[in-house]
Amino acid sequence: MITIGINYIGGPGHDSSAAIAVDGSLKFAIAEERLTRRKQDSSFPIKAIQACLDFEGIKIEEVDEMVFGWPELNKHFATSIKLNFTGALKESFPRQALNYYRSLTSRNVKRYIESYQLKPKKITHLDHHFAHAWSVVPFLESEKSLIFIVDGRGISESTTVYLKNGFDLEVLERINFPNSLGLYYAEMTSMCGFRKYSDEWKVMGLAPFGKKSFDLSHLIASTSGSHTVNHKTLLNVEQLALNGKVIQRPESDEVAINDEDIKDLAHSAQYHYEQTILKFVKYYTNLYSIKSIGMAGGVGLNCKANGYLMRELQLEEFFIQPAATDDGTAIGAALYPFHLNNTIKKEQFYPYLGKEFTNDEIKEVLDKYHLDYQFIDEVEKDAASELAKEKIIGWFQGRDEFGPRALGNRSIVSNPGTAKMKDKVNEVVKYRESWRPFAPSLLKEEAENVLKNIKSSPYMILTDYVSEDYAEKIPAVVHVDGTLRPQTVDKDINLRYWNLINEFYIITGLPVVMNTSFNLKGEPNVCHPSDAVQTFFTSGLDILYLGNYKVKKKP
Ligand SMILES: [Fe+2]
Repeated sequence: MITIGINYIGGPGHDSSAAIAVDGSLKFAIAEERLTRRKQDSSFPIKAIQACLDFEGIKIEEVDEMVFGWPELNKHFATSIKLNFTGALKESFPRQALNYYRSLTSRNVKRYIESYQLKPKKITHLDHHFAHAWSVVPFLESEKSLIFIVDGRGISESTTVYLKNGFDLEVLERINFPNSLGLYYAEMTSMCGFRKYSDEWKVMGLAPFGKKSFDLSHLIASTSGSHTVNHKTLLNVEQLALNGKVIQRPESDEVAINDEDIKDLAHSAQYHYEQTILKFVKYYTNLYSIKSIGMAGGVGLNCKANGYLMRELQLEEFFIQPAATDDGTAIGAALYPFHLNNTIKKEQFYPYLGKEFTNDEIKEVLDKYHLDYQFIDEVEKDAASELAKEKIIGWFQGRDEFGPRALGNRSIVSNPGTAKMKDKVNEVVKYRESWRPFAPSLLKEEAENVLKNIKSSPYMILTDYVSEDYAEKIPAVVHVDGTLRPQTVDKDINLRYWNLINEFYIITGLPVVMNTSFNLKGEPNVCHPSDAVQTFFTSGLDILYLGNYKVKKKP
């Protein structure tokens, strides 16, 4: 059986994507943004669907089931109308609702299916949180686990807790919008002057610069396996009265790092989220005596809170779907039908699910642009020696990563040994806020020497503290509070990236490189070799490695 899973909802969606599974195994997945070059693209993922078909070398007619990670249009619209009436969306009815309806109908699924002549044998729709949950289920080792889906809003749901037994799921709790942890964090992101539902990680990065000055317990709390978010105060908030002060939302995102109140607000917002999610999750882990957890939904990308949960609850298994936002529902949607016909398999999640290009295909692109290049046999050794000389390199290898993190196949890699490297990469490549931290990739074998607690973190989705030994050695990847967001690189999963770090280790004594996604500010991560070439020549990158080819800029 062949299935295609899709994340697409029409008007208000984001991160459209498609995934293909064959006989119970996930084969390929890609977000539409990587192909259209529009970040978080919400359009119908026709390019992603075509890429899935191309990967398997099949036609759409051969697909047995096309599964959407959202219910049908009428359910979404009916819920939105209800939320409008209750004031939860703070939009005036009927004008906003009508606009919303027009936006949905003009971009509805049936319309695209017809216009693109997509004729799979069957089309089905899943509950949104159920699709998120199935992006986790086959990748958990334990028979019994708790799964937490936490996002802004599905149809009406914002948090769902499932008990997983084998491949069966039982809903333990469902909390509806606007009582939403995603809404809380998004509005706090906005209050710090950043873009909500987009720049949440900036709050996480800013938090350690502030203090826990503000008591936000009237805005967010958790009791007896539930949580409450004060949406009446928070929705589209412009100012907050806290500790006898009125905090105004800054006009621009550049204010944050120089404003003590905003830094304290970021710290307090993160602190209160961490306390709430800890109490909420702990309630269930205690009740069911389960130490295996799965998580998905956009709030699952809060790596600082994830690290805190891992340490405080001493979890034995904690799998957070790396594509935690809605793009990941394509995976869940593609895999769920195999449970129904008893052919689903338990497997380790493999994040390199996208496109790959051969050396010949890369050469064709380099020739097209009339570039000077060299073919290097031992490309890892060559790149490591350039990193040791503090060159910043573009590293384009193997299959594209699925999800927001670059994990060594579409990465900008540099030397973490001097603090100035962080500023250099920020200035010449990323053009982003100088205070935001970069993450390390390290040899898995060295994790216990470099990190304080975590032995494995393959997807860069948990923070940990740096060990005393390494605190001074890798300043470019350690944040002001001594934390880092590591990727432990496993030889058996990504040999070429492991070799690069190992060669760097041999030269410098550091089993760690600095890794950031291969894109400029505001753009999606590169996918095609021509995206990489374009980014290389419009940034301050020193050297580009694509497969075995090395490209330099002319002096
Ligand atoms: Fe979602």
